[in-house]
Amino acid sequence: MVLSICSGTYVCSAKVAAPQENFRRLLRTVAMLSDLGPEMTAERDFAQTAQVMLSALMQSSGATEGVLFVLVEKPAMLTSVAAQGFALIPEPSVIPLLPRHVHALATTRGAVLLEASSYDTFLSANGNVAPELFRCLMSLKVSGKLVGAVALGRREADSPYDEEGLQYLELLGHYVALAVQNHALTQTLAQRVGDNLRLMASLHGFYDNALEAFAAAIDVKHVNIHGHSIRVGKYAAAIGDAMGMGPNEVTALRSAGYLHDIGKVAVDKRLFGKPTTLDAEEFREMADHTTVGHQIVVGVQFPWACVPEVVRWHHERADGSGYPDGLQNEEVPIEARIVGLADTFDAMTSPRPYRERISLGTTLNDILRNTPQKFDPTAVQALLVQLRRDAVGSNRAPFLESSAGHLAPTDIDHLAANLQHKISNGRLYLT
Ligand SMILES: [Fe+2]
Repeated sequence: MVLSICSGTYVCSAKVAAPQENFRRLLRTVAMLSDLGPEMTAERDFAQTAQVMLSALMQSSGATEGVLFVLVEKPAMLTSVAAQGFALIPEPSVIPLLPRHVHALATTRGAVLLEASSYDTFLSANGNVAPELFRCLMSLKVSGKLVGAVALGRREADSPYDEEGLQYLELLGHYVALAVQNHALTQTLAQRVGDNLRLMASLHGFYDNALEAFAAAIDVKHVNIHGHSIRVGKYAAAIGDAMGMGPNEVTALRSAGYLHDIGKVAVDKRLFGKPTTLDAEEFREMADHTTVGHQIVVGVQFPWACVPEVVRWHHERADGSGYPDGLQNEEVPIEARIVGLADTFDAMTSPRPYRERISLGTTLNDILRNTPQKFDPTAVQALLVQLRRDAVGSNRAPFLESSAGHLAPTDIDHLAANLQHKISNGRLYLT
């Protein structure tokens, strides 16, 4: 029917061929559009997705050369994420943008054909790629905000871009813009998470140093307790490590150990140097360091939630004989049980005004005698693990200060066997 109204066969063929070609291109564009959805949401490298998107954009417009750019802000520039067809093009291609370029790209509608007079409206020549390579440019926008651009070079047989091709390009462009923005948001989020993690790590380092200084200040009251809080922090962290705790929990234990006696800043200095045991009134004042300390730290936003609990409950014991609240067994948080054990261990292996330091063997026998009634068996087992590592020299940094004493590996194995026997109530299990 169409042929019958044409005056010449040649002209008619051309007129028919163009709409058919356009129709095929429209069908291809719609097909590509439906393929792009899963492609853009697939969990794959963005560089691969960018190549697929650029292929679709080029096919829809008949381009044989093309570059897909994303906008990088501060300073504003277009950076290529995919390029096809150009004989020589830098990777990535970068085009710095002045504010007027950003404004022109953000306000232009659809795809524009570039001419010698219009390059400078949209692109600067200050990058590593010549804008003259491009004949068609389409900015990618989401809700009016510029997120990138597609720049196309030559078409098949060097033919000019037609109206339909530009419309198909625009149709696909909306979806590609969404994918580009999605990628930019993911990148920003990943960068912010990375920044926060680095900040947290530096904060933790800062906390560690600050708390170590604080721990030294707590123990300044008397020569006999110098270094006590720092050692308790280190012992507690090493016990937690040997129990298989993660780095954050180990750091929390070290910090809680450093601060466990913070309430002692309010205790009369005279009591620390008393050469005899404390009377009931003096003991009560000393015991109050748990509740006073808790009042001090409970309002502080520590990165570790366990600090106030450890400060209050490190003198609680499994059988309810501890203070200040007489908690029992699991009522005492594991962090407080670990710091409580580290505290006792250091107190016994250090001299006091009223006694010499107690030997390592006697200390451990005493702790074992009171396990599990007072001390957590798993924590005691971890303490023995660290001491054995010291004994065989497998600890990178020694767990124990040399002044605290030394035991042979066989002695520690003997203690570990005793502990195991106590935990299993003397029952034997066939394995
Ligand atoms: Fe204490």
